[in-house]
Amino acid sequence: MASASLARLLRERTRDLHDRVERTGFVRTIVAGRVDAGSYARLVESLYFVYAAMEHALDAHCDHPVVSMLDFDELRRRASLENDLAYWLGTNWRPQVSPSPATRAYVARVREVATIEPPRLVGHLYTRYLGDLSGGEILARALRRVFGSNSDCGAAFYRFDRVADRTSLKERYPRQLDALPLDPTAAEHVTEEAQHAFALNLRLFEELESNQGIAIVD
Ligand code: HEM
Repeated sequence: MASASLARLLRERTRDLHDRVERTGFVRTIVAGRVDAGSYARLVESLYFVYAAMEHALDAHCDHPVVSMLDFDELRRRASLENDLAYWLGTNWRPQVSPSPATRAYVARVREVATIEPPRLVGHLYTRYLGDLSGGEILARALRRVFGSNSDCGAAFYRFDRVADRTSLKERYPRQLDALPLDPTAAEHVTEEAQHAFALNLRLFEELESNQGIAIVD
């Protein structure tokens, strides 16, 4: 990017939405260590579909000059989510999972941008992967309090076993955002898409909150 820092732009333009996500009842329930297993399993189920879509798009665009620059193999979450689903639902989890309405909307948007304007995917990658690396740590600690800290506790998603140095990757990520070959219009589209991604996450958390208490596992 020639002029403004994309990383700074993304942070500034999503700050309010980040505050709203943090304040959702569902996220607060996790942070307070009061999430029930059924609700958490539903979050894992939704995230599985979302990350499968994002990582499918990363594979499809592995030669794309912009998208490929944000493909950090060690951040990929699909395999961890599959492990977590096997923990919560059993090894025969696949036929038991299906995307909720909010999840379908999220996945549809990821697929749409991957098809019509791949650089917009950056907005989605930033929102989830940098978020997982950042506030994810706080959520991980809370989940360990509830579900235990051994490797089988069903929260592999929040562990980054393949990230050697989390702090340095958190610093590298914004630098990589700033190095993306995007003109100002494309950068504007990326920030717009990140706002859209936050809104899709908000909807997901609100849906989870409204379903809380309807446990699918004990
Ligand atoms: C209670 C839940 C959460 C807490 C406590 C939290 C906390 C934080 C904190 C402290 C940072 C700054 C980290 C740093 O600068 O080192 C951060 C960054 C970030 N979080 Fe969250 N977060 C939460 C949930 C989320 C969720 C659900 C998302 C995505 C949907 C998200 C997306 C992000 C992103 C993209 C950043 C990077 C901001 C930037 O530097 O550009 N966070 N979060």
